[in-house]
Amino acid sequence: MSNETEDQLRDEIIEMKKEMKKCNKTKIALKKSEERFKTVAESATDGIVTTDDNGNILFFNKILKTLFGYSTEELSGKSLTMLMPDKFRKGYLNELENYKISGKHTLLGKTVQTIGLRKDGTTFSFEMSLSAWKSNKTTYFSAIIRDITKRKQAESEIKKSLIEKENLLKEIHYRVKNNMQIISSLINIQIKHVHEKESVHVLNETQGRIDAMAIVHKNLYESSEFTNLNFKDYTEKLVAEILSSQQLNSGTIKTELDIEDIEMNMETAILCGLIINELITNSIKYAFPDQKGTIKITLKSYSNELELIIADNGIGLPKNIYLKINETIGLQLIYSLVNQLNGKLKLDMSNGTEFKITFKELEYEERL
Ligand SMILES: Nc1ncnc2c1ncn2[C@@H]1O[C@H](COP(=O)(O)OP(=O)(O)OP(=O)(O)O)[C@@H](O)[C@H]1O
Ligand SMILES: [Mg+2]
Repeated sequence: MSNETEDQLRDEIIEMKKEMKKCNKTKIALKKSEERFKTVAESATDGIVTTDDNGNILFFNKILKTLFGYSTEELSGKSLTMLMPDKFRKGYLNELENYKISGKHTLLGKTVQTIGLRKDGTTFSFEMSLSAWKSNKTTYFSAIIRDITKRKQAESEIKKSLIEKENLLKEIHYRVKNNMQIISSLINIQIKHVHEKESVHVLNETQGRIDAMAIVHKNLYESSEFTNLNFKDYTEKLVAEILSSQQLNSGTIKTELDIEDIEMNMETAILCGLIINELITNSIKYAFPDQKGTIKITLKSYSNELELIIADNGIGLPKNIYLKINETIGLQLIYSLVNQLNGKLKLDMSNGTEFKITFKELEYEERL
């Protein structure tokens, strides 16, 4: 061997040794990284499983084994379909095939709730986040699986309790409405035994006020929420009730309703209902001596305010109304109701009588 060849060989050996050293370093780094990954995976409180793009299990942590009740040998290399109920298997495999063709998978990047199948044949609910990653042109899927059996149980208990409370609330509205109807009937009986005109009037008005509140509770137990009612629906029923109780000749006094389709809580609706009751009763009784005219009720909602207008195109309030006010309850009641609504009242008598009330929906006040 020539000196030249010997030198070349030596150089190559040195180079090879260097490469081997590098390779060893990489191996150690890789092992360390693998250990680190395993420690993280094993210390996780969720189940972790990795499959290839055919759905064969390559890696899983301890929690996953516990969740599904399998040993390491039973899971390694097997199809992930063994962990899912029959009905999900086909869909799962289809998704994998689809991903190979289109790169799309409906569950990727999402957290979904699904059902797992344990070795003993029982099932359980879990939440799963799925991700896909590539290494050396091969696709892998990793799923993080969280048992949500307890959460589901708690949810169903809360739902059950909510249904119970809703039924109770419905029952209460029903009973309140019934009790009000009983009071109304009692007043009715009394009216028949009273002959004095003034007393009949007072009893009639009281009955109307009770009926206005009873309709709120009737609408509440018929609604799905039990705390809010549809104001349009309520007003329509209320006006029909007032008209029928006033025994009007049909068609002589017209009513026009322009009510926005809004939901209102019970407190606000009762106050508005009582105001409408007072004002419409007054319009029917006093505004049209010849029984002809129109009563209009409008409710509009603005950005943070509601506007309720009750107007008739009748003869207008008497000039001495301010003197009369202390003698009668009706208008005093209006002021008090508007006050309770924290609202503002405007009276316009340019064409009949128009009451404009602006207010905000009352906040629910917590009771002790
Ligand atoms: N829309 C109206 N058009 C004309 N006059 C009215 C109208 N509303 C009220 N009035 C007059 O104002 C008076 C006072 O009304 P108010 O509602 O306070 O008392 P009331 O209806 O007589 O009795 P109640 O206390 O039972 O309501 C009425 O008696 C009536 O003369
Ligand atoms: Mg009145």
